[in-house]
Amino acid sequence: MTTIEISPSDRVFILTGAGISAESGLPTFRGADGIWRQHRVEEVASPVAWQRDPKMVWEFYSMRRRVHEGKQPNAGHRALAQLEAQLGERMFLCTQNVDALHERGGSRRVVHMHGELFKSRCDTCSRPPFADQNTYEEEVPRCECGGRIRPHICWFGETPYELDRIFDELQRCTVLVAVGTSGLVEPAASFAAYARSSHRRVRAIYVGPEEPANRLDFERCVAGTATEVLPTLFAVRSEAARAV
Ligand code: OAD
Repeated sequence: MTTIEISPSDRVFILTGAGISAESGLPTFRGADGIWRQHRVEEVASPVAWQRDPKMVWEFYSMRRRVHEGKQPNAGHRALAQLEAQLGERMFLCTQNVDALHERGGSRRVVHMHGELFKSRCDTCSRPPFADQNTYEEEVPRCECGGRIRPHICWFGETPYELDRIFDELQRCTVLVAVGTSGLVEPAASFAAYARSSHRRVRAIYVGPEEPANRLDFERCVAGTATEVLPTLFAVRSEAARAV
C-alpha cells in the first residue's frame, strides 16, 4: 500500500480529472464509452459551435445535466474532503471536472478551472454566473440585456478560469497529486512539470488505473482507481508527531 507522508510544512496541490467521478457513474472523455467518442468537440464545446448552432450546444449540455442527476460522490471525493479538513488552507483542490461531486463529498474550497455544469452565464454582459439546473431543448434562453444564456463551461479555445490563483499555488506546493486525468489537455497537463520546474523539491504523484500521457512529469504512479487508492493514500503528520 502506497502512502504519501504530509508533514506540517507541506502544501498539497490536488488536480482531479474525469477519472475521479468515473466510479460515481459519470463517463470520462476519452475512455471506451467516453463523451468524445460520441460527440465531436468542435460541434458542441467551442465558441464556433456556439455561434453556429447554440441550440445544439444546449442540447449537449442539457443531456449532460440529465446524466448527472442522482449521481453521488464516491470514496475518492470523500477522501479528498477529509484531507482538506485536516490540512485546511495548506491544501488546494483544482478540478477539471464540471460536476459538483467534490462539493457534495464535503470539499469546501474547489477551484473549477473548466467551469461548472450547473451554472450558466450571459454570453454578452458581465452578469456573474448563476446557479441553473434547467435543461434547454427548444429555446436558447435570453438574458435581460438581450444576450444569450450559455453554459458556464470553458470551451476549447477559451482560457480556463482562475489561472493566476492556480499558478500561484503551483509555485507554493511541495506535494502535487493528480487523479484520473489523461494528461492530454493543456494547461492542466503541464501543472506537474511547472511545479517541478523550479529548484524546490516537489513530490509529484499520479493516481489512476493507467499511466497518463505526461507520465514522465511524475516521480511515481500509483496504479488503481480513485476509490481504491485515495482513502488510504495520505498520512498527515501533526506538529505533535513531529516533536516526538
Ligand atoms: P479523460 O477522459 O481524458 O481521462 C480520464 C482519465 O481517468 C484516464 O486517464 C483514465 O485512465 C482515468 N480513470 C478512469 N477511471 C478511473 C478511476 N476509477 N479512478 C481514477 N482514474 C480513472 O479526462 P480528463 O483528463 O479529465 O475539458 O479530461 C480533461 C479535459 O478534457 C476535461 O476537463 C474536458 C475534456 O475535454 C473540457 O471540456 C474543457
